[in-house]
Amino acid sequence: MVAAVAPHAGEAPRTRLYPPTVEPPPVPLPFAKFLVQFVRNPLLTIARPVYHDDMLVRETGRRLVIYITDPKLVEEVLLKGAENFHKTPIEKRIFKNTLGDGILTSQGPSWRWQRRTAAPLFRVSDLNALVPQMTAEAEAQAARWRTARPGKIQSIDLDMTETTFRVISTTMFGGKADGDAREVLHASDRALASVSWDIAAAIVDLPEWVWYPGRNLRRSAGRKLRELTERMLQRRRETGLDGTDLMSRLANAKDPETGKPMSESQLVDNLLTFLGAGHETTAKALTWSLYLLARAPEWQDRIVEEINRVCGDAPIGAEHLDDLEVTRAVFKEAMRLYPPAPIMNRILSEDMTLGGKEMKAGTFIVIPIYAIHRHHKLWTDPDLFDPTRFFKENEAKQARAQFMPFGFGPRTCIGMSFAMMEGVALLGTFVRRARFGWDGQHLPEPLSRITLRPAGGMPLHVHPR
Ligand code: HEM
Repeated sequence: MVAAVAPHAGEAPRTRLYPPTVEPPPVPLPFAKFLVQFVRNPLLTIARPVYHDDMLVRETGRRLVIYITDPKLVEEVLLKGAENFHKTPIEKRIFKNTLGDGILTSQGPSWRWQRRTAAPLFRVSDLNALVPQMTAEAEAQAARWRTARPGKIQSIDLDMTETTFRVISTTMFGGKADGDAREVLHASDRALASVSWDIAAAIVDLPEWVWYPGRNLRRSAGRKLRELTERMLQRRRETGLDGTDLMSRLANAKDPETGKPMSESQLVDNLLTFLGAGHETTAKALTWSLYLLARAPEWQDRIVEEINRVCGDAPIGAEHLDDLEVTRAVFKEAMRLYPPAPIMNRILSEDMTLGGKEMKAGTFIVIPIYAIHRHHKLWTDPDLFDPTRFFKENEAKQARAQFMPFGFGPRTCIGMSFAMMEGVALLGTFVRRARFGWDGQHLPEPLSRITLRPAGGMPLHVHPR
Protein backbone atom coordinates (compact mmCIF):
# COMPACT_ATOMS: atom_id res chain seq x y z
CA MET A 1 0.00 0.00 0.00
CA VAL A 2 1.33 3.46 -0.84
CA ALA A 3 -0.16 6.84 0.05
CA ALA A 4 1.29 10.25 -0.78
CA VAL A 5 1.69 12.67 2.11
CA ALA A 6 1.29 16.40 1.49
CA PRO A 7 4.72 18.02 1.77
CA HIS A 8 5.52 20.95 4.04
CA ALA A 9 6.64 24.08 2.19
CA GLY A 10 9.97 23.46 0.46
CA GLU A 11 9.97 19.73 1.27
CA ALA A 12 9.92 17.01 -1.41
CA PRO A 13 6.75 14.88 -1.41
CA ARG A 14 7.11 11.86 0.83
CA THR A 15 5.74 8.41 0.23
CA ARG A 16 4.08 6.49 3.03
CA LEU A 17 5.09 3.03 2.02
CA TYR A 18 3.71 -0.13 3.58
CA PRO A 19 5.70 -2.74 1.68
CA PRO A 20 4.66 -6.41 1.37
CA THR A 21 4.39 -8.53 4.48
CA VAL A 22 2.64 -11.76 5.42
CA GLU A 23 -0.85 -12.13 6.88
CA PRO A 24 -0.36 -13.83 10.25
CA PRO A 25 -2.98 -16.38 11.38
CA PRO A 26 -5.20 -14.81 14.09
CA VAL A 27 -4.44 -17.65 16.55
CA PRO A 28 -1.76 -20.38 16.71
CA LEU A 29 -2.42 -23.04 14.08
CA PRO A 30 -3.29 -26.66 14.92
CA PHE A 31 -0.26 -28.90 14.36
CA ALA A 32 -1.23 -30.39 10.97
CA LYS A 33 -2.07 -26.97 9.50
CA PHE A 34 1.08 -25.57 11.09
CA LEU A 35 3.19 -28.09 9.18
CA VAL A 36 1.49 -27.40 5.85
CA GLN A 37 1.96 -23.65 6.23
CA PHE A 38 5.49 -24.11 7.53
CA VAL A 39 6.52 -25.86 4.34
CA ARG A 40 4.97 -23.06 2.30
CA ASN A 41 6.48 -20.22 4.30
CA PRO A 42 7.49 -20.51 7.99
CA LEU A 43 6.49 -16.86 8.55
CA LEU A 44 2.86 -17.90 7.97
CA THR A 45 2.99 -19.95 11.18
CA ILE A 46 3.76 -16.99 13.45
CA ALA A 47 0.38 -16.11 14.97
CA ARG A 48 -0.83 -12.54 15.33
CA PRO A 49 -0.50 -12.44 19.16
CA VAL A 50 3.27 -12.92 18.73
CA TYR A 51 3.34 -9.43 17.16
CA HIS A 52 1.53 -7.96 20.18
CA ASP A 53 2.46 -9.93 23.33
CA ASP A 54 5.77 -10.51 25.16
CA MET A 55 5.65 -14.26 24.82
CA LEU A 56 3.40 -16.97 23.43
CA VAL A 57 3.33 -20.52 24.76
CA ARG A 58 2.25 -23.29 22.41
CA GLU A 59 1.76 -27.00 23.18
CA THR A 60 2.25 -29.06 20.05
CA GLY A 61 1.55 -32.37 21.77
CA ARG A 62 5.16 -33.33 21.11
CA ARG A 63 6.92 -30.45 22.87
CA LEU A 64 6.42 -27.06 24.46
CA VAL A 65 7.26 -24.22 22.09
CA ILE A 66 7.68 -20.66 23.36
CA TYR A 67 7.83 -17.60 21.10
CA ILE A 68 9.71 -14.75 22.76
CA THR A 69 9.56 -11.16 21.58
CA ASP A 70 10.10 -9.01 24.69
CA PRO A 71 13.66 -7.58 24.38
CA LYS A 72 14.31 -8.28 28.09
CA LEU A 73 13.38 -11.94 27.71
CA VAL A 74 15.43 -12.16 24.50
CA GLU A 75 18.40 -10.87 26.51
CA GLU A 76 17.74 -13.48 29.19
CA VAL A 77 17.85 -16.27 26.62
CA LEU A 78 20.66 -15.13 24.37
CA LEU A 79 22.88 -13.21 26.77
CA LYS A 80 22.44 -14.08 30.46
CA GLY A 81 21.28 -17.67 29.98
CA ALA A 82 23.33 -18.42 26.86
CA GLU A 83 24.88 -21.50 28.55
CA ASN A 84 21.44 -23.03 29.13
CA PHE A 85 20.03 -22.39 25.68
CA HIS A 86 21.64 -24.44 22.96
CA LYS A 87 21.39 -24.65 19.20
CA THR A 88 18.60 -27.11 18.42
CA PRO A 89 18.82 -30.71 17.13
CA ILE A 90 16.74 -29.48 14.18
CA GLU A 91 19.52 -27.12 13.10
CA LYS A 92 22.09 -29.88 13.65
CA ARG A 93 20.08 -32.22 11.44
CA ILE A 94 19.44 -29.85 8.57
CA PHE A 95 23.02 -28.58 8.43
CA LYS A 96 24.71 -31.92 9.13
CA ASN A 97 25.61 -32.56 5.50
CA THR A 98 26.81 -29.05 4.74
CA LEU A 99 27.99 -27.00 7.72
CA GLY A 100 28.71 -30.06 9.92
CA ASP A 101 30.46 -29.09 13.14
CA GLY A 102 31.62 -25.61 12.14
CA ILE A 103 31.34 -22.38 14.10
CA LEU A 104 27.62 -21.79 13.37
CA THR A 105 26.42 -25.22 14.46
CA SER A 106 28.87 -26.31 17.19
CA GLN A 107 28.47 -25.81 20.92
CA GLY A 108 30.62 -25.49 24.08
CA PRO A 109 34.44 -25.73 23.92
CA SER A 110 34.42 -26.80 20.26
CA TRP A 111 32.53 -23.58 19.34
CA ARG A 112 34.65 -21.43 21.65
CA TRP A 113 38.02 -22.16 20.07
CA GLN A 114 36.65 -21.86 16.53
CA ARG A 115 35.16 -18.49 17.40
CA ARG A 116 38.44 -17.35 19.03
CA THR A 117 40.41 -18.43 15.99
CA ALA A 118 38.31 -16.45 13.54
CA ALA A 119 37.57 -13.41 15.75
CA PRO A 120 40.77 -11.40 15.09
CA LEU A 121 39.87 -11.19 11.41
CA PHE A 122 36.71 -9.29 12.25
CA ARG A 123 38.21 -6.41 14.25
CA VAL A 124 36.80 -3.13 12.95
CA SER A 125 40.27 -1.58 12.74
CA ASP A 126 41.39 -4.35 10.36
CA LEU A 127 38.13 -4.47 8.41
CA ASN A 128 38.55 -0.83 7.39
CA ALA A 129 41.27 -1.88 4.97
CA LEU A 130 38.74 -4.07 3.10
CA VAL A 131 36.29 -1.28 2.24
CA PRO A 132 38.04 -0.29 -1.05
CA GLN A 133 37.69 -3.90 -2.26
CA MET A 134 34.00 -3.89 -1.31
CA THR A 135 33.36 -0.63 -3.14
CA ALA A 136 35.32 -1.87 -6.17
CA GLU A 137 33.04 -4.92 -6.48
CA ALA A 138 29.99 -2.62 -6.32
CA GLU A 139 31.49 -0.37 -9.03
CA ALA A 140 32.08 -3.49 -11.16
CA GLN A 141 28.41 -4.48 -10.80
CA ALA A 142 27.32 -0.93 -11.68
CA ALA A 143 29.53 -1.11 -14.78
CA ARG A 144 27.81 -4.38 -15.80
CA TRP A 145 24.43 -2.61 -15.56
CA ARG A 146 25.82 0.22 -17.69
CA THR A 147 26.38 -2.14 -20.62
CA ALA A 148 22.64 -2.99 -20.71
CA ARG A 149 19.84 -0.88 -22.20
CA PRO A 150 18.97 1.99 -19.77
CA GLY A 151 15.93 1.09 -17.69
CA LYS A 152 16.19 -2.60 -18.48
CA ILE A 153 14.70 -4.90 -15.85
CA GLN A 154 17.50 -6.63 -13.95
CA SER A 155 17.31 -9.59 -11.56
CA ILE A 156 18.53 -7.65 -8.57
CA ASP A 157 18.47 -10.68 -6.24
CA LEU A 158 20.90 -12.56 -8.49
CA ASP A 159 23.11 -9.51 -8.99
CA MET A 160 23.32 -8.97 -5.23
CA THR A 161 24.18 -12.62 -4.58
CA GLU A 162 26.93 -12.51 -7.15
CA THR A 163 28.40 -9.22 -5.91
CA THR A 164 28.42 -10.20 -2.23
CA PHE A 165 29.93 -13.56 -3.15
CA ARG A 166 32.73 -11.76 -4.97
CA VAL A 167 33.23 -9.53 -1.93
CA ILE A 168 33.58 -12.41 0.54
CA SER A 169 35.86 -14.29 -1.88
CA THR A 170 38.27 -11.43 -2.43
CA THR A 171 38.29 -10.09 1.13
CA MET A 172 38.24 -13.22 3.28
CA PHE A 173 39.51 -16.01 1.05
CA GLY A 174 42.57 -14.31 -0.33
CA GLY A 175 40.88 -13.70 -3.67
CA LYS A 176 41.15 -17.35 -4.60
CA ALA A 177 37.60 -18.57 -4.05
CA ASP A 178 35.76 -17.07 -6.98
CA GLY A 179 36.81 -19.50 -9.72
CA ASP A 180 33.85 -21.73 -8.93
CA ALA A 181 31.50 -18.85 -8.08
CA ARG A 182 28.66 -19.79 -10.42
CA GLU A 183 28.67 -23.43 -9.36
CA VAL A 184 28.79 -22.57 -5.66
CA LEU A 185 25.95 -20.07 -6.02
CA HIS A 186 23.81 -22.49 -7.97
CA ALA A 187 24.38 -25.31 -5.47
CA SER A 188 23.68 -23.12 -2.43
CA ASP A 189 20.50 -21.80 -4.04
CA ARG A 190 19.36 -25.41 -4.61
CA ALA A 191 20.34 -26.35 -1.06
CA LEU A 192 18.14 -23.62 0.43
CA ALA A 193 15.17 -23.72 -1.95
CA SER A 194 13.52 -26.74 -0.33
CA VAL A 195 14.93 -26.34 3.18
CA SER A 196 11.47 -25.92 4.78
CA TRP A 197 10.72 -29.58 3.95
CA ASP A 198 13.88 -30.58 5.81
CA ILE A 199 12.90 -28.53 8.84
CA ALA A 200 9.35 -29.93 8.80
CA ALA A 201 10.78 -33.48 8.57
CA ALA A 202 13.03 -32.72 11.56
CA ILE A 203 10.11 -31.23 13.54
CA VAL A 204 8.12 -34.48 13.21
CA ASP A 205 11.26 -36.61 13.79
CA LEU A 206 10.85 -38.33 10.43
CA PRO A 207 13.54 -41.03 10.13
CA GLU A 208 16.32 -39.78 7.90
CA TRP A 209 15.90 -42.60 5.36
CA VAL A 210 12.28 -41.60 4.59
CA TRP A 211 11.86 -39.70 1.32
CA TYR A 212 10.18 -36.28 1.17
CA PRO A 213 10.13 -33.62 -1.57
CA GLY A 214 13.47 -31.92 -2.17
CA ARG A 215 15.37 -34.36 0.09
CA ASN A 216 17.61 -35.88 -2.58
CA LEU A 217 18.10 -32.58 -4.38
CA ARG A 218 19.25 -30.91 -1.18
CA ARG A 219 21.59 -33.73 -0.31
CA SER A 220 23.19 -33.69 -3.74
CA ALA A 221 23.49 -29.87 -3.59
CA GLY A 222 25.15 -30.25 -0.18
CA ARG A 223 27.62 -32.81 -1.55
CA LYS A 224 28.38 -30.53 -4.48
CA LEU A 225 29.06 -27.60 -2.16
CA ARG A 226 31.47 -29.65 -0.08
CA GLU A 227 33.24 -30.93 -3.19
CA LEU A 228 33.69 -27.39 -4.51
CA THR A 229 34.98 -26.18 -1.15
CA GLU A 230 37.43 -29.11 -0.89
CA ARG A 231 38.67 -28.22 -4.37
CA MET A 232 39.18 -24.58 -3.34
CA LEU A 233 41.09 -25.69 -0.27
CA GLN A 234 43.23 -28.06 -2.31
CA ARG A 235 44.12 -25.29 -4.75
CA ARG A 236 45.08 -23.02 -1.86
CA ARG A 237 47.21 -25.78 -0.31
CA GLU A 238 49.15 -26.02 -3.58
CA THR A 239 49.91 -22.29 -3.61
CA GLY A 240 50.54 -22.06 0.16
CA LEU A 241 48.32 -21.42 3.16
CA ASP A 242 50.64 -19.12 5.06
CA GLY A 243 48.80 -15.80 4.65
CA THR A 244 46.68 -13.87 7.12
CA ASP A 245 43.40 -14.52 5.28
CA LEU A 246 40.58 -16.58 6.82
CA MET A 247 41.45 -19.79 5.02
CA SER A 248 45.09 -19.68 6.20
CA ARG A 249 44.07 -18.80 9.75
CA LEU A 250 41.61 -21.65 10.06
CA ALA A 251 43.99 -24.14 8.43
CA ASN A 252 46.82 -23.25 10.83
CA ALA A 253 44.78 -22.98 14.06
CA LYS A 254 45.24 -25.44 16.93
CA ASP A 255 42.66 -26.45 19.53
CA PRO A 256 44.05 -25.05 22.83
CA GLU A 257 42.83 -28.14 24.72
CA THR A 258 44.13 -30.88 22.45
CA GLY A 259 46.78 -29.01 20.46
CA LYS A 260 45.33 -30.56 17.31
CA PRO A 261 44.50 -28.63 14.13
CA MET A 262 40.99 -28.77 12.65
CA SER A 263 40.25 -31.98 10.82
CA GLU A 264 39.92 -31.68 7.06
CA SER A 265 36.17 -32.02 7.33
CA GLN A 266 35.87 -29.40 10.09
CA LEU A 267 37.91 -27.04 7.97
CA VAL A 268 35.50 -27.55 5.10
CA ASP A 269 32.56 -27.07 7.52
CA ASN A 270 33.94 -23.68 8.46
CA LEU A 271 34.91 -22.53 5.00
CA LEU A 272 31.45 -23.36 3.80
CA THR A 273 29.90 -21.60 6.81
CA PHE A 274 31.83 -18.39 6.20
CA LEU A 275 31.28 -18.52 2.48
CA GLY A 276 27.52 -19.04 2.90
CA ALA A 277 26.82 -16.90 5.98
CA GLY A 278 29.20 -14.28 4.61
CA HIS A 279 27.33 -13.48 1.41
CA GLU A 280 23.76 -14.81 1.31
CA THR A 281 22.44 -12.69 4.21
CA THR A 282 24.06 -9.44 3.02
CA ALA A 283 22.76 -10.12 -0.49
CA LYS A 284 19.22 -10.37 0.83
CA ALA A 285 19.59 -7.19 2.91
CA LEU A 286 20.73 -5.29 -0.20
CA THR A 287 18.01 -6.82 -2.40
CA TRP A 288 15.26 -5.65 -0.04
CA SER A 289 16.97 -2.26 0.42
CA LEU A 290 16.88 -1.62 -3.33
CA TYR A 291 13.24 -2.72 -3.53
CA LEU A 292 12.27 -0.25 -0.81
CA LEU A 293 14.26 2.49 -2.52
CA ALA A 294 12.57 1.74 -5.84
CA ARG A 295 9.20 2.16 -4.08
CA ALA A 296 10.23 5.30 -2.16
CA PRO A 297 12.49 7.11 -4.66
CA GLU A 298 12.93 10.26 -2.59
CA TRP A 299 15.21 8.21 -0.33
CA GLN A 300 17.41 7.54 -3.37
CA ASP A 301 17.74 11.30 -3.83
CA ARG A 302 18.68 11.72 -0.15
CA ILE A 303 21.37 9.04 -0.45
CA VAL A 304 22.84 10.61 -3.59
CA GLU A 305 22.87 14.03 -1.93
CA GLU A 306 24.60 12.56 1.14
CA ILE A 307 27.26 10.73 -0.88
CA ASN A 308 28.06 13.79 -3.00
CA ARG A 309 28.42 15.83 0.18
CA VAL A 310 30.52 13.31 2.11
CA CYS A 311 32.61 11.67 -0.64
CA GLY A 312 32.71 14.22 -3.47
CA ASP A 313 33.93 12.33 -6.53
CA ALA A 314 35.91 9.76 -4.54
CA PRO A 315 34.83 6.14 -4.23
CA ILE A 316 33.26 5.31 -0.87
CA GLY A 317 36.05 4.50 1.60
CA ALA A 318 36.23 3.52 5.27
CA GLU A 319 36.81 7.17 6.21
CA HIS A 320 33.34 8.09 4.86
CA LEU A 321 31.23 5.37 6.46
CA ASP A 322 30.52 7.08 9.80
CA ASP A 323 29.12 10.11 8.00
CA LEU A 324 26.78 8.17 5.69
CA GLU A 325 23.90 8.31 8.16
CA VAL A 326 21.06 8.28 5.63
CA THR A 327 22.50 5.35 3.67
CA ARG A 328 23.05 3.39 6.89
CA ALA A 329 19.54 4.22 8.15
CA VAL A 330 17.97 2.91 4.92
CA PHE A 331 20.03 -0.29 5.11
CA LYS A 332 18.99 -0.84 8.75
CA GLU A 333 15.33 -0.07 8.07
CA ALA A 334 15.42 -2.64 5.26
CA MET A 335 16.84 -5.21 7.72
CA ARG A 336 14.16 -4.28 10.25
CA LEU A 337 11.33 -4.91 7.79
CA TYR A 338 13.06 -7.84 6.09
CA PRO A 339 15.57 -9.36 8.53
CA PRO A 340 17.87 -11.55 6.39
CA ALA A 341 17.80 -14.27 9.09
CA PRO A 342 14.13 -13.95 10.15
CA ILE A 343 13.82 -16.73 12.75
CA MET A 344 16.22 -18.02 15.41
CA ASN A 345 15.73 -21.05 17.65
CA ARG A 346 17.20 -22.42 20.85
CA ILE A 347 16.48 -25.43 23.06
CA LEU A 348 16.55 -25.30 26.85
CA SER A 349 19.14 -27.68 28.31
CA GLU A 350 18.07 -27.51 32.01
CA ASP A 351 14.86 -26.73 33.88
CA MET A 352 14.56 -23.01 34.62
CA THR A 353 12.15 -20.09 35.09
CA LEU A 354 11.79 -17.61 32.26
CA GLY A 355 9.44 -14.63 32.34
CA GLY A 356 7.90 -16.03 35.54
CA LYS A 357 7.14 -19.40 33.89
CA GLU A 358 8.61 -22.75 34.91
CA MET A 359 10.20 -24.39 31.92
CA LYS A 360 11.45 -27.93 31.52
CA ALA A 361 14.64 -28.96 29.76
CA GLY A 362 13.80 -29.66 26.11
CA THR A 363 11.50 -26.62 25.80
CA PHE A 364 11.86 -25.16 22.34
CA ILE A 365 12.40 -21.39 22.13
CA VAL A 366 11.58 -19.46 18.96
CA ILE A 367 13.01 -15.95 18.62
CA PRO A 368 11.04 -14.61 15.67
CA ILE A 369 13.23 -11.68 14.61
CA TYR A 370 10.70 -10.86 11.87
CA ALA A 371 7.92 -10.38 14.47
CA ILE A 372 10.19 -8.54 16.96
CA HIS A 373 11.03 -6.07 14.20
CA ARG A 374 7.32 -5.47 13.53
CA HIS A 375 6.12 -5.70 17.12
CA HIS A 376 3.32 -3.32 18.03
CA LYS A 377 4.64 -2.57 21.53
CA LEU A 378 8.15 -1.81 20.24
CA TRP A 379 7.61 0.22 17.08
CA THR A 380 5.26 3.02 16.08
CA ASP A 381 3.39 2.08 12.89
CA PRO A 382 5.57 -1.06 12.59
CA ASP A 383 4.81 -1.95 8.97
CA LEU A 384 5.66 1.54 7.66
CA PHE A 385 8.98 2.04 5.85
CA ASP A 386 10.60 4.87 7.79
CA PRO A 387 14.41 5.07 7.83
CA THR A 388 14.32 8.03 10.25
CA ARG A 389 13.84 5.42 13.01
CA PHE A 390 17.58 4.81 12.61
CA PHE A 391 18.75 8.41 12.71
CA LYS A 392 21.06 8.68 15.73
CA GLU A 393 18.70 10.56 18.05
CA ASN A 394 15.84 8.08 17.46
CA GLU A 395 17.99 4.95 17.54
CA ALA A 396 19.31 5.90 20.99
CA LYS A 397 15.78 5.40 22.37
CA GLN A 398 15.53 1.77 21.26
CA ALA A 399 15.89 -1.20 23.67
CA ARG A 400 19.00 -3.31 23.14
CA ALA A 401 17.38 -6.38 21.61
CA GLN A 402 14.59 -4.52 19.82
CA PHE A 403 16.53 -4.43 16.55
CA MET A 404 18.53 -7.63 16.25
CA PRO A 405 19.17 -8.67 12.64
CA PHE A 406 22.55 -10.09 13.72
CA GLY A 407 21.26 -11.99 16.76
CA PHE A 408 22.37 -11.17 20.27
CA GLY A 409 24.77 -12.29 23.03
CA PRO A 410 27.93 -14.39 22.67
CA ARG A 411 26.67 -16.03 19.46
CA THR A 412 25.98 -12.69 17.78
CA CYS A 413 26.99 -12.72 14.15
CA ILE A 414 30.77 -12.60 13.98
CA GLY A 415 30.50 -10.79 10.65
CA MET A 416 28.27 -7.95 11.91
CA SER A 417 30.77 -5.12 11.42
CA PHE A 418 31.91 -6.58 8.12
CA ALA A 419 28.28 -6.77 6.93
CA MET A 420 27.45 -3.21 8.04
CA MET A 421 30.50 -1.80 6.25
CA GLU A 422 29.74 -3.82 3.16
CA GLY A 423 26.03 -2.95 3.22
CA VAL A 424 26.63 0.80 3.41
CA ALA A 425 29.53 0.83 0.89
CA LEU A 426 27.62 -1.27 -1.65
CA LEU A 427 24.23 0.39 -1.23
CA GLY A 428 25.76 3.87 -1.47
CA THR A 429 27.73 2.93 -4.57
CA PHE A 430 24.73 1.34 -6.33
CA VAL A 431 22.48 4.32 -5.69
CA ARG A 432 25.04 6.93 -6.75
CA ARG A 433 25.62 4.99 -10.00
CA ALA A 434 22.03 4.06 -10.92
CA ARG A 435 18.39 4.89 -10.27
CA PHE A 436 16.19 1.93 -9.36
CA GLY A 437 12.59 1.79 -10.51
CA TRP A 438 9.61 -0.38 -9.53
CA ASP A 439 7.53 -1.99 -12.28
CA GLY A 440 4.34 -0.93 -10.48
CA GLN A 441 3.29 -4.54 -9.92
CA HIS A 442 5.75 -6.75 -8.12
CA LEU A 443 4.70 -7.23 -4.46
CA PRO A 444 7.08 -9.97 -3.37
CA GLU A 445 6.02 -12.08 -0.40
CA PRO A 446 8.87 -12.33 2.13
CA LEU A 447 9.66 -16.04 2.05
CA SER A 448 11.71 -17.61 4.84
CA ARG A 449 14.20 -20.17 3.55
CA ILE A 450 16.71 -19.80 6.42
CA THR A 451 17.34 -16.41 4.80
CA LEU A 452 14.49 -14.12 3.75
CA ARG A 453 13.96 -14.30 -0.01
CA PRO A 454 11.54 -12.26 -2.11
CA ALA A 455 9.09 -14.75 -3.66
CA GLY A 456 9.33 -14.39 -7.44
CA GLY A 457 12.80 -12.81 -7.27
CA MET A 458 13.46 -9.09 -7.44
CA PRO A 459 13.03 -7.61 -10.91
CA LEU A 460 13.75 -3.86 -10.88
CA HIS A 461 14.34 -1.26 -13.61
CA VAL A 462 17.93 -0.03 -13.52
CA HIS A 463 18.72 3.38 -15.06
CA PRO A 464 22.48 4.03 -14.89
CA ARG A 465 23.20 7.66 -13.92
C1 HEM B 1 23.39 -8.60 6.75
C2 HEM B 1 24.23 -9.58 6.94
C3 HEM B 1 24.16 -10.62 8.03
C4 HEM B 1 23.13 -10.97 8.87
C5 HEM B 1 21.74 -10.36 8.93
C6 HEM B 1 23.61 -12.03 9.71
C7 HEM B 1 22.86 -12.64 10.71
C8 HEM B 1 23.36 -13.57 11.61
C9 HEM B 1 22.65 -14.08 12.75
C10 HEM B 1 21.21 -13.71 13.15
C11 HEM B 1 23.46 -14.94 13.40
C12 HEM B 1 23.17 -15.65 14.72
C13 HEM B 1 22.56 -17.01 14.56
C14 HEM B 1 22.23 -17.64 15.90
O1 HEM B 1 22.68 -17.18 16.94
O2 HEM B 1 21.48 -18.62 15.86
C15 HEM B 1 24.70 -15.01 12.65
C16 HEM B 1 25.79 -15.80 12.98
C17 HEM B 1 26.92 -15.89 12.19
N1 HEM B 1 27.25 -15.12 11.09
FE1 HEM B 1 26.14 -13.67 10.31
N2 HEM B 1 24.91 -12.33 9.36
C18 HEM B 1 25.29 -11.48 8.35
C19 HEM B 1 26.53 -11.41 7.75
C20 HEM B 1 27.60 -12.23 8.02
C21 HEM B 1 28.90 -12.12 7.43
C22 HEM B 1 29.33 -11.06 6.42
C23 HEM B 1 29.66 -13.15 7.94
C24 HEM B 1 31.09 -13.52 7.66
C25 HEM B 1 31.93 -12.84 6.94
C26 HEM B 1 28.81 -13.89 8.86
C27 HEM B 1 29.19 -15.01 9.56
C28 HEM B 1 28.47 -15.54 10.62
C29 HEM B 1 28.96 -16.64 11.45
C30 HEM B 1 30.26 -17.40 11.26
C31 HEM B 1 27.99 -16.86 12.44
C32 HEM B 1 28.04 -17.88 13.58
C33 HEM B 1 28.61 -17.19 14.80
C34 HEM B 1 28.66 -18.08 16.04
O3 HEM B 1 27.79 -18.94 16.21
O4 HEM B 1 29.57 -17.86 16.83
N3 HEM B 1 27.58 -13.29 8.89
N4 HEM B 1 24.61 -14.14 11.58
